[in-house]
Formats: sequence, structure tokens, C-alpha cells
Amino acid sequence: MRDAAGNFSVLDRTCSLVVLLCFLHISVTLIYYIRNSDSRQTFVQNHQTPQSHRKLTEQRVTTEETRPPSVSNDTVTERKLETCPDNPPKLVGPLRVEFSDPVTLDLVREQNPALQPGGRFKPEECIAQQKVAMIIPFRNRDEHLKFWLYYMHPILQRQQLDYGVYVIVQDGDELFNRAKLLNIGYVETLKEYDYQCFVFSDVDLIPMDDRNIYKCFSQPRHLSVSMDKFGFRLPYTQFFGGVSSLSKEQYLKINGFPNNYWGWGGEDDDIFNRISFKGMSVSRPDGVIGRCRMIRHNRDDKNDPNPQRFDQIAHTRQTMGQDGISSLSYKVLKVEKNQLFTKITVDVGKP
Ligand code: BGC
Repeated sequence: MRDAAGNFSVLDRTCSLVVLLCFLHISVTLIYYIRNSDSRQTFVQNHQTPQSHRKLTEQRVTTEETRPPSVSNDTVTERKLETCPDNPPKLVGPLRVEFSDPVTLDLVREQNPALQPGGRFKPEECIAQQKVAMIIPFRNRDEHLKFWLYYMHPILQRQQLDYGVYVIVQDGDELFNRAKLLNIGYVETLKEYDYQCFVFSDVDLIPMDDRNIYKCFSQPRHLSVSMDKFGFRLPYTQFFGGVSSLSKEQYLKINGFPNNYWGWGGEDDDIFNRISFKGMSVSRPDGVIGRCRMIRHNRDDKNDPNPQRFDQIAHTRQTMGQDGISSLSYKVLKVEKNQLFTKITVDVGKP
């Protein structure tokens, strides 16, 4: 009897031990599982850049919410992007613009990793409202170009434009011909991409507010309306110099720009005349948003004031039909692309 009772108590203890061991095993497995799934989540969080985060979220949206029922599980459809808004959300407003410390192209490259070869960009988060070619007439102003690229690339990206930067270099040392270089920029950029809008910018002008959007409007736009050089106001009502934008239609309506203004001055006044003779008006940002700084410099060699400009401006109505994009002739000597811009060197001929 005692033996049976003894056996029963051994059996009892063994069973309790087995139950305890099972319980222990289940607890350890549970703890291990929970800790492991935590650390997997932490790993994902720590290794997400803002971009990869966006991609993950987008993928989740497409695979879980927007995939049509008929699409198989393996197919990931692309998320449909919306058009970018009129007021881009990343704009910051007034900007500090100064030219005392030189900048390097390396720095500009580092700060703009999203650029594609040739100084091209398009926003990832939405479809840009416009495809814009930034056209800069140029000769021997490398220091100014660095500042332009340094300030403008981040601004243009915040403005959510689909854009490219084109530096049109006049070869040789003949008198400078700004308007002809702009015409060449129009033709050459269209060979590369279906641009709808053209911003013509001097290399030494930087906007002081990123709400001054470098795009096209229903009328030709004058963007550099409030320059430090002129005490932050228009020097005269018809002033159209510095930075302007025209859509393809607006540009073609005025037969482009004049080709025969050699040396400094007058070509922008001729463009203003063309615009008003074709019944268009000039649109402008307000004087605060349109503030901009000019890099101080001496007049370039071979860019003396054009003494014929007053006479030329007085005859725009008669000349604009023949002289313009319809009569443009030039030779492209070289096209070079780097990460920050496309450089097109051209022979514009002689006066
Ligand atoms: C010239 C323009 C120039 C303006 C402001 C005018 O006399 O004809 O080309 O933009 O002055 O400097």
C-alpha cells in the first residue's frame, strides 16, 4: 500500500515537472519570438532614408489598397502621381543671398544628388506642371555660374519643376550677342526635350524669394522686377531685362528675339516691344517676391554699349517679322554635359 502511494507521489512529481518544463519552454519561445519581431522592425526603421520610406509607403498603397482585384499578386502597379500644386509645399519664402564666400562645383554637386546628367530634374512626388528649359547666355563668367548653380538648383527643385539648365556659350571674342544666344538656347533645348516653357536668365542674377516661380504664365513674364542694383524697383515700366519667361506659343508669336543687337543693351527693350506689338502684356510678381540680387562686376570685354540700340528699338515693328527665330543661323561647336548643366558652345557669327 505504501509502495503504491510512493509510486503515485513519484508519478505526481514527474508530471508536475513535465508540466513546468512545458510551461517554461512555451514562455522562452514566446519571449524569443516577441524580441525577435521587435528587432526586425527596428532594423527596418533605422535603414530607411526619406526616399526609401516613401517607396515603401507607396508600394504598400499600391499593393494593398489600389490594386484592381483582377491583377495578380505578383504585379505591382505604379502609383498614379498627381499634378504638382500651384503652391509647392517646400517653398520657404525670403532667402539669404550673398556672394562673399566663393562656392565650388563639388559642393553644388554634393548638395544636389537628385540631379540627372545635364542638370536635369523632375520631382518624384508629383507630375511637374511645366517642362522648363533654363537658358543662360554666357561667356567667361565661371565664378558667377557657380553661384547661379549653387542658389538656383535647390530653388528650382523646391518649385517642383521638370527642368534642365543650359549654358549657351558664345565662342570667340566678337561682340557679345545676348538675344541671339537666347534664340539658340530655344532651338537647341527643344532638340533635347519637349520643353513648353523657356526661362531666359542672366548668369549674375539670383532671386531672393523662392515664391518667384521660374515657370511660364498666361502672358510673357518678367521675373527680375526688383533688383538690388536699381534700389529694388523697376528702373522704367517697360524694363524686361535680367530674367524672363515665355511659353513656346508666346515666343513663336513674336518670332523669337532679335539677332542683330551686338554689344550691351537694347535687346530686352526690343523683346518688350515685340510682346506689346503682338497684343500681349507682361506679367510680373509683386515687388517683394520679385526681389533679386545681382553679382557686382565690371563690364565684360567685348560687351560695350551698342550705340545703334536706340535706333534699333525705334524700328522693332518693322524689323520683327524678318529678324528673329525665322532668320536664325549659327553653328554648334560643342555640347558637353555634367551633373549640374549642359554647356552648348556656339559660333554666332559676326555683326
Ligand atoms: C538698356 C537695356 C537695359 C536697361 C537697364 C537700357 O538703357 O537698353 O538693355 O536692360 O537699360 O540697364
